[in-house]
Amino acid sequence: MVLSDANKKIIRSLGKDIKANAELLGADALARLFQLHPQTKTYFGKFATFDACDTAVKLHGSRVMNVVGDAALNVDNLRQLLESLADKHGKQLLVDPNNFHLFADCIAVTLAIYLPDFSPEIHRAVDKFLELVTHELVSKYR
Ligand code: HEM
Repeated sequence: MVLSDANKKIIRSLGKDIKANAELLGADALARLFQLHPQTKTYFGKFATFDACDTAVKLHGSRVMNVVGDAALNVDNLRQLLESLADKHGKQLLVDPNNFHLFADCIAVTLAIYLPDFSPEIHRAVDKFLELVTHELVSKYR
């Protein structure tokens, strides 16, 4: 998967918005993941509830989306940026790699709802970008 220059321009322009709204976006995306794919809750045993308004969900969502925002701002440098996180998920947390695709879909839906514009061009760029992020995050299982 290769991002065109036009795709990169779109993604970079989303980075600041994503970081500025990291908690809201992250909590929404996580709540969707937990609701649509309940098996993913098993990784977060310490969460009291799995709703977007839960403090722990908001905190974790903020962490996740800050990384997604950083990735958008550094789209040419994803490997270096995500390497330690890939190590953590692949070697420590042992998250089933399939879950990253499920989560990427939830993030795309969240962005579609909250971004002021989600044209087909933006949708395509976001889709390709999330596929690249997922590819890096599952790279340490191999
Ligand atoms: C776009 C995809 C993802 C990103 C950017 C991401 C990002 C992060 C970040 C930034 C952390 C905190 C790391 C730290 O404290 O050192 C984290 C932890 C964690 N992630 Fe992910 N993650 C993603 C996908 C997933 C998925 C799909 C799952 C499982 C369904 C998952 C499960 C976990 C767990 C269990 C933790 C540890 C939570 C804790 O104990 O506080 N992650 N992730």
